[in-house]
Amino acid sequence: MAETRILLLLLLCVCRILAVVVVSRNKKPVVLEHESVELSCIIEDSDTTTPRIEWKKSRGGETSYVFFNNNIVGDLMGRAELLSRSSLIIHNTSRTDNATYRCEVAALNDGKKFDEVTIELTVQVKPVTPRCSVPKAVPAGKTAVLHCRENEGYPNSMYRWYRNSEPLPDSSKSNPKFVNSSFTLDPRTGTLVFSAVSKADTGHYYCIATNEAGSAKCEEQELEVYDLNIAAIVGGVLVVILVLGLITLAICWAYRKGYFANRKPKGKSYKTPAKPEGVNYLRTDDEGDFRHKSSFVI
Ligand SMILES: *[C@@H]1O[C@H](CO)[C@@H](O)[C@H](O)[C@H]1NC(C)=O
Ligand SMILES: *[C@@H]1O[C@H](CO)[C@@H](O)[C@H](O)[C@H]1NC(C)=O
Repeated sequence: MAETRILLLLLLCVCRILAVVVVSRNKKPVVLEHESVELSCIIEDSDTTTPRIEWKKSRGGETSYVFFNNNIVGDLMGRAELLSRSSLIIHNTSRTDNATYRCEVAALNDGKKFDEVTIELTVQVKPVTPRCSVPKAVPAGKTAVLHCRENEGYPNSMYRWYRNSEPLPDSSKSNPKFVNSSFTLDPRTGTLVFSAVSKADTGHYYCIATNEAGSAKCEEQELEVYDLNIAAIVGGVLVVILVLGLITLAICWAYRKGYFANRKPKGKSYKTPAKPEGVNYLRTDDEGDFRHKSSFVI
């Protein structure tokens, strides 16, 4: 029993010596876009001096060759090279290089002697200037929503809003300084929501998008909160209605009293020879014009 165990151990040792062993100095390299990065793949042990080396790339469920048949292929062509036999160097990295890479090494004389190492490359992209929207004027007590968004940054940006250059917390409730405000910020979407704006929320607002690679700020915009004084508006409208009603009543009253009708007998005086025809004609016209006006008002 003991002998079989020793034999098994010996066999394992021999296999290990003959096998291919691949390691990596960094399995999760991070690089800024446009910089160079090394995907480390080191052959520690191999029973052949000329192992077969292949690099593959998996991104969004698709796997493609990067290094095949001793050549850089695919979208890394002209941008990548092998370093110390099996490591991969990518120059001028792009956001499309964000992927999982696999370095596969096989001893040529036996396909079973094979090892691989998986490397997750992160290419960070700085945020661009976010698009910000701030309502210009909001009546006190109404809701107001401020948006801030940019879609270039990788990893995705987080957002922070500033009022008069002062950073706003995720919730107005978290800081007694903002006791007169009621807002919440979702730092992942950049949306700042005021459930009911108050005069204290008037100010200059801007937003900063930040990720591991950098940050970007949008132009400052002003938010004005004004009093919507309903009592004053209703009062004003009532006064106008009252005045119009009084005028109408006065005209009706005058009409009934025959104030306008009394002018007709006067009109008969056109027959008096002292007055020229032209003037009489004008007067009749004048009267007609007045009737038209009064019927319009009533
Ligand atoms: C790097 O790649 C970008 C495209 O992703 C290209 O516009 C730029 O010219 C390249 N820079 C260098 C130094 O090759
Ligand atoms: C909040 O409003 C009250 C009343 O208008 C005022 O006295 C107080 O100073 C305000 N607090 C802050 C932090 O602005």
